[in-house]
Amino acid sequence: MITQETIAEIFAVARVEEVVGEFVRLKKSGRNFKALSPFSDEKTPSFVVSPAKQIWKDFSSGKGGNAVTFLMEHEHYSYPEALRYLAEKYGVEIREERQTPERVQRASERESLYIVTDFAKGYFQKVLTENPKGRAVGLAYCKARGFSAAAIGGFELGYCLDERSAFTVAALERGYRLEFLAQTGLTITRESGDAHLDRFRGRLIFPIHSFSGRTLGFGGRILKSDGELPKYINSPQSVIYNKSETLYGIFQSKREIVKRDNCYLVEGYTDVISLHQSGVKNAVASLGTSLTVAQIRLIKRLTQNLTILFDGDSAGVKAALRGLDLVLEQGMNVRVLLFPAGRDPDAFARSCSTDALREFLQRESEDFIRFKARLKAAEAQGDPLKKAAVVGDVVRSIAKVDDFIKRELYIRESAAIFQVSEQALFSQLNRYLQRDGREAAGRPKRKAFEVLQSEPREMRPHEAELERALLRAMLLYGTEEIAIKIPGESESYETTLAEEAIQLLVEDAITLQHPVLRKIFEEIRRHWESRDELLSGAHFAVHPDPEVAAMAADLMLEEQPLHDWKRMGVYVARPGTRLSRELLDTIFRYKRQFLERQLKTLAQGLKAQGESERTAAIREIMNTKRLMVVLDKFLTRVV
Ligand code: UTP
Ligand code: MN
Repeated sequence: MITQETIAEIFAVARVEEVVGEFVRLKKSGRNFKALSPFSDEKTPSFVVSPAKQIWKDFSSGKGGNAVTFLMEHEHYSYPEALRYLAEKYGVEIREERQTPERVQRASERESLYIVTDFAKGYFQKVLTENPKGRAVGLAYCKARGFSAAAIGGFELGYCLDERSAFTVAALERGYRLEFLAQTGLTITRESGDAHLDRFRGRLIFPIHSFSGRTLGFGGRILKSDGELPKYINSPQSVIYNKSETLYGIFQSKREIVKRDNCYLVEGYTDVISLHQSGVKNAVASLGTSLTVAQIRLIKRLTQNLTILFDGDSAGVKAALRGLDLVLEQGMNVRVLLFPAGRDPDAFARSCSTDALREFLQRESEDFIRFKARLKAAEAQGDPLKKAAVVGDVVRSIAKVDDFIKRELYIRESAAIFQVSEQALFSQLNRYLQRDGREAAGRPKRKAFEVLQSEPREMRPHEAELERALLRAMLLYGTEEIAIKIPGESESYETTLAEEAIQLLVEDAITLQHPVLRKIFEEIRRHWESRDELLSGAHFAVHPDPEVAAMAADLMLEEQPLHDWKRMGVYVARPGTRLSRELLDTIFRYKRQFLERQLKTLAQGLKAQGESERTAAIREIMNTKRLMVVLDKFLTRVV
C-alpha cells in the first residue's frame, strides 16, 4: 500500500499535459491542447487536455479524468501501477505502509533484478542492430524470416553473441553484480573461478514484458541447426519472472485487445510477432505452458473474449481442450480455431492481407463448447458406450459456464449434435452443478434449481437505496471476516464481507444501476480478481476520479445507520443481528428486485414471438422464478 502522503505528492507534481503528451500528439489550441482521440478512430480531434484544470476529456468516448486516470484508461494500468509510473517519471520516492526491514530488502533486490534485466535487453538489442556479427547472424535471420523493422523494434528483439561470456563480461565491466546476473539466469556461474557462461549465447532474444512494459525475462531461439540443443531456452523462474503469470506480448497487445474486445492466444513467440506485423495486434502467447488462472486474469483485465489458435500439428489440442474448462470457470467466452495440418498462425499470417487474416480468424473460429461437442461426437460415432462418456465430458464443460441462459443454449445445441434428449442433458447438468458446488474449495455454490412455493413478503424499497447500502457496507466493512452458513448445507465457510458481496452479484451477472456506484463496485471487483486485494473506503476517498471520491466520502459520512431501513420501507433486521447478516440481506433484496424487473421484460417478450423463442422464454422465466424462490428462502430463514 502506497502511503497517502506519497499519493498526494504525486498528484501535486504530475502535469496532465506532460503525461498525456507521452502517448498522444498534442496540439496547442488556445489555452488547451487538442488531439485525435486515442480511444477511437476519428478524423477530427475531439480529445482535449486542459493544463489549467489538470484534466483531459475525450468527447468521442465520453471518457475523462486526470493524469492518473489517463494512464489507467490508456495503458490499462491499475491504480498503483499508474502511481508508480508517475513517481518514476517525476522522481517521487514511493513510501509504503507497513514497511518492514525484510520488505525493504526484498524490494531492493527485486529492483536490482529489474535493472540487470533491463540492461541486458538494451545490450542484446544493440548487438543485434549494431554489432557486425550480430547483424550478420541475428539481423540476417530476422530479415530472412521477414520480421519488419517495426516488429523488431516493437518487441525489442536482440541477439546474444555466440561466445562464451561476451555479455557477462560486458555487464560486469559496467558494474552489474554477478549475484544478480546469476539470479536472473542471464549468466550461468561455475564453481571454478571465473568460467562464467552466457545462458543465451548464439540465440535470438525475445524479451518478455510485464503488463506495464517492464522486462521480466527472455526467450532465446537457436539460429544454427543443431539437433542436440533445444530450439528455445527461456529465463528461469526468479523473483521477477514467473512464466505461469505472464503472457508474451501482453504489453504490446493490451490496447488493441480492448479496442477489439477480443484476445487471440497463440502458441509461440513468432506467432505473436507475425500476427502483429500483419495487423492483428491483439495476440499473445502463453509461454509453452497450459493456461493458468493468473494468465486468464491478465486477459480479463482487458476483455471477456478469448480466441485460442492451435497449430495444425499441435499435439496437445486434446489436452488443451480439457484445460479450457478453467477459462470457462473464469467467466470468459472462449472460441477456438484449429489450423489445418502443417500450418500455424505465423505462416498463415505472412501469406495474406490484414483484412483477409482478420476475416479468416473470425470466420474459422468456433465457440469452444460447440467445437468440443462436434469433435467428441465425431470421435464417438457408432459407439454408444463411448458416446455416453463424451456427452458427460461436454456437459461437464457446460456446467462451468456461469450464465444459466448460456448454459441452456449449450445444452440444446449439444442435444442436437449428439442426438440425445435435452431432458437427459439437463438432469446431467444439474448433477454436475451440484457436485461442482461441493468440490469448489471450501465454498459451496448456491443451488439455484430447487422449486418451492413461497409468497414474496418484502415491501418495495427504492433500488437506489439498496445499492447505496450495499456499497456503503463494502467500503466501511468490506475487509471484515465473516462466516457464512447456507441453510440446508452442513458446512459453513469463511470469507470477507466484500468478497461475498462480489460473488453474489457476479454470480447472476447483476450490474449496479447507478453509474458511479457501479464504478466503485467494479473497481473493487477488478482489483480483487486481478490481485486478490480488497480496496476499502480509504482508497476511494482519495480517488483521482472526483465523482468517485465525492461518492465515497458521501457514503462513508452518511448519518443513517446501516440497518435504518424502516424509513425506506424495508423489512428491518432484528436488533443484535450481525452486520454481515445485514449486508447479505441487502444483497438478496437487491437481487430479488433485479430478477423481478427481468421477469417483467421476459413476460412482455412472450407475446410477439414464434414457437421456439416462446419455449426459450418460458424456460428463462422458469429459471428466474426458481432463483427468486431461493432468494425468498434466504430472506425468510436467514435473518
Ligand atoms: P514452437 O516450436 O511452435 O516455436 O513452440 P515458434 O515460436 O513457433 O518458433 P518458430 O516459428 O519455429 O521459430 C511454441 C512455443 O513453445 C515454447 C516457446 O515459447 C515457443 O514460442 N518452446 C518451444 C520452448 O520454450 N522451448 C522449446 O524448445 C520449444
Ligand atoms: Mn510455431
